Amino acid sequence: MKRSSFLRVAYFAGFLALLFPSHKLHADNGYDAWLRYAPLKEAERAKFAAFPSALVARSDSLLLQTSQKELIRGVRGMLGRELRVEKELPKESAILLGTLADLHLLAPELHAPELRADGFWLANDRINGHDCLIIAGATDRGTLYGVFAVLRKIAFVEGLSHLQEQQEPANPIRWVNDWDNLDGRIERGYGGRSIFFENGSVRTDLSRASDYARLLASVGINGCIVNNVNADPRVLAPDFLPQLARIADAFRAWGVRLGISVDLSSPKSLGGLDTFDPLDPRVQSWWKEKADEIYRLIPDFAGFLVKADSEGRPGPSSYGRTPADAANVVARALQLHGSIVMYRAFVYDHHLDWRNPKNDRARAAYDIFHPLDGKFDDNVIVQIKHGPIDFQVREPASPLLGTLEKTNEAIELQITQEYMGQQRHLCFLVPMWKEALDFDMRVGDRATPVKNIVSGQIFHRALGGFAGVANVGLDANWMGNPMAIANLYGFARLAWDPNLSSANIADEWTRLTFGNDPVADRTIDAMLLSSWPTYENYTGPLGAGTLTDILGSHYGPGVESSERNGWGQWHRADHDGIGMDRTIATGTGYVGQYSPEVQKEFETLAATPDSLLLFFHHVPYTYRLKSSKTVIQHIYDSHYKGAERVREFVKMWESIRNLVGDDERYEFVLKRLRYQEGHAIVWRDAVCNWFLRMSGIPDAKGRVGHSPHRIEAESMQLQGYVPVDVEPSETASGGKAVACQPPAGECAASVDFRGSSGTYQLKIQYFDQNNGKAKFRVVVAGHQLDEWVADDTLPNSKLGGDTSTRRQINGVKLHQGDEIRIEGTPDGGELAALDYVEIEP
Ligand code: GCU
Repeated sequence: MKRSSFLRVAYFAGFLALLFPSHKLHADNGYDAWLRYAPLKEAERAKFAAFPSALVARSDSLLLQTSQKELIRGVRGMLGRELRVEKELPKESAILLGTLADLHLLAPELHAPELRADGFWLANDRINGHDCLIIAGATDRGTLYGVFAVLRKIAFVEGLSHLQEQQEPANPIRWVNDWDNLDGRIERGYGGRSIFFENGSVRTDLSRASDYARLLASVGINGCIVNNVNADPRVLAPDFLPQLARIADAFRAWGVRLGISVDLSSPKSLGGLDTFDPLDPRVQSWWKEKADEIYRLIPDFAGFLVKADSEGRPGPSSYGRTPADAANVVARALQLHGSIVMYRAFVYDHHLDWRNPKNDRARAAYDIFHPLDGKFDDNVIVQIKHGPIDFQVREPASPLLGTLEKTNEAIELQITQEYMGQQRHLCFLVPMWKEALDFDMRVGDRATPVKNIVSGQIFHRALGGFAGVANVGLDANWMGNPMAIANLYGFARLAWDPNLSSANIADEWTRLTFGNDPVADRTIDAMLLSSWPTYENYTGPLGAGTLTDILGSHYGPGVESSERNGWGQWHRADHDGIGMDRTIATGTGYVGQYSPEVQKEFETLAATPDSLLLFFHHVPYTYRLKSSKTVIQHIYDSHYKGAERVREFVKMWESIRNLVGDDERYEFVLKRLRYQEGHAIVWRDAVCNWFLRMSGIPDAKGRVGHSPHRIEAESMQLQGYVPVDVEPSETASGGKAVACQPPAGECAASVDFRGSSGTYQLKIQYFDQNNGKAKFRVVVAGHQLDEWVADDTLPNSKLGGDTSTRRQINGVKLHQGDEIRIEGTPDGGELAALDYVEIEP
C-alpha cells in the first residue's frame, strides 16, 4: 500500500474509532444481547436523514428520564447523532416523548388513540408546520416501551416517516422468574452465579440487576421474581427486606417491579408461630403484617410467587387445607396494596406407586385445581406450566389451562434450558411455546386457544399472562451462550403479542443481535427455527419425554432413569413396546381432563398425531406411525437425522463467519456447536442402543451398533489405562471406557493405523468429569498433534452420558502403520478416561 493511502485508511479508522468505541466494532461478548445499537451502514443511515435532532420531553418522572436517555443512547449508537433535549416545542421537527397526557399539553390539537395500560402510540404528524415523531405511552412505562420499539425500527432500517402505529400488550402479567438462591447459586441456572445474591445477602454491586431490568424492559417485561421457587424463608426476614428493597431500586427506573417467592411455612419457620395453617387467625395476621412491612420498604412491590405441597415443599395440605385457602390468605394481605399472588399449579405427589398402571403424574394439576375453580380471590393468579409434566421436549398443552373459567391464569414457560440441553445445545423454544399457546382447548365447542385464555380474554378475567423461568447469571453473556438468550427475547415478545410468528421473532432477534446481513440472517434463522425439532429428534421421540437422567442432572441420556420410581415421568418402555396409556377407555383417564372435542384428538390411536403418540398410548415397537414407519425405526431414524442436522449447524455457522463479525460471540457459539455435534452423537448412540437391546429389533438401515470408523479404547494397546464398565452401559460405546486410575500418574492407549494412507479426521471420544482437569495428548507417528485440558464444567463427576465429549482434529495425514497414541494425565477425581477413537476420511 502506498504511504499516502495507508495514512488515509489509518486516519479514517481513527475517525471511526472516535465515533464508535472500538469494543463496539470488534469485541462483543454478548453482554448487550439484543440491545447493541451497532452503527448502521452509511447507506442505511441515509434513510434517517430527516430524523429530528430535538427531543421534547416535559415531564421529568424517573421512567421518562430513562426513556430519554435510552433514546439518546440508541440514536447515538446506530445513527451517530446527538439528540438535544428541550422542554417546549422548537421551531423545527422534533421527537415528542411522554404520556398521552403530556402530549395533550404540548399539542392539544393531536388526536391520540385510547390505549390500555402499558400500551404506546408511535406516529409521524405535523405539529406547528413541522414533521414530528410522537412516542407516547398510556403510562410512563408505555412511553419507555415505545422508545424501545422505535429503536428496534431503526435497527431494522424501517423508515419512520409514515409511522402510525399503536401497540398494547396482550397480557397484563409479563413476568420473569429467576430461581436464585440466597447463597448465590441458581437452581437450573446455566449462566453463572446469581446477579442478585451472594453468601446469603443481596450483592453490594447491583449494576447487573439494573442492566437486566433494562433488557427486560426493552421487550415489555414488567415484573421479576428474584429468588428460587424453592424459597428460603429468610427472604422475608426483617434484616433481609431492606436488602431486597435495593434490588427493587435497581429495577425501578426500567418499570420492572420486584416480587419474591415465599415459603408458606414462613409464619412458623421464620415468624415463630407454632403453626402455618392458613386458616389460623394468627397466621393471617402474620402475613398481613409482613406485607405491610414490605410495602413500607418497597412501595411498588409486585407480589408473591408460591410453590407449595410440591417436591417436598411445605403447603396447606399439612393442615387439610386447599391451595385456594392458602393463596387467599396471602392474597388478602397483599390486596390492600394492590398486588397479587401467583400460586403455582405444579403440585404433585413424587412418591407415586409406579406399579399401578392407573397412576399418572400428568393428572395432578387438574385433579387438584379444577375443583377449586371460582374459589380463588381476584388477586390470585394460578401459574400453570405449559405441559402437564415438567418442561419436557414435547408435551401436550396442560388441560388445566382450559378448565379454570372463574380463576385468573398465567402460563409458565421455561426459558432456561433445563431439559433442553442446558444452553450447551442450541434449542430455540419459541416454536414449542407457540404450539402450546395456539393449542385450541375447544371449551364449549368454540375456538379457545390457550393464548386467549391466559390473557383473560376468553373467560373475561381482569388478570392473566405469562411467567418465564429465566435464570440469567453473572456470565458476560447472561445465559451461558449468546444464542440461548434468544429464548428470553422470544418469551417476552410472545408475552407482549402471542400472535407473532416464530419466524418473525427469530428474525427480529437475529437482526438485533448480529446485524442486517441477509445471508447471515437467513442462516441463523434457519438454525434457530429447526433447532427444537432437531433436539427432539435426538433426545425424546414421539412424546415419550426427554429421555434424560431425570434423577440427576436432567442433561445427558438416561433412558431408564424415569422408570421404577415415584417421580412419574414414566414412558413405560419394555421389551415389547413403549408409551403411557392415558386414554379414558383403558388408561389413566388423563385424556378425560380435556374438553370432549379435544378428547377426540387423543383418545384413539388413529386420531393422535405421531408427535404425541407415546404420551397418550402404549404401543408395540412394530406399530406403524402415520408416517408409515414403525415406532422403532422412527426412533432410530430420528436420532440419526437429529445428529446429522447438528453437524450441518456447525457448517452453517462457519459459513457466516465473516458476515456476523468474527468476534467473541462467534467463537463461543462455534465451540458450543462443535460440542453439541459430539454430544448429539452420544445421545443418538445411547438411545438407539438402549432400544435395540430392549426391542431386539435391528435398525433396517444397519447403523445402530455398527460404527465402521470406530476403534474402542478398550481394544487399543493400553499402558496404565484399565477398562471400566460405564453405567448406564449405553452411555459409552460398547458399555466400556478406559480409565487412568491411581496410582497411575500417566496412561496411554495406542493403535496402529491399518487403513490406506491419506488425510483423515481424528475424533477422540473422552470423558470430561467436573472433579478435575485431566490432560490429554495425541501423538501420531511420534509427533505431537494436539494437546488439551479437560476443564469443561459438565454437570457430573462420573463417566457417562453427561460427561462424554470429544476432541476433533481435522486434516490429519496418516500412513499405514502409523502409531496413534493418546496419553492421559488424570487430575483430582478426573481419570482422563477414553471411550473410543474414530478415524473418518
Ligand atoms: C423442575 C426442576 C426443579 C424445580 C421444579 C419446579 O422439577 O427440576 O428444580 O424446582 O421444576 O418447577 O418447581
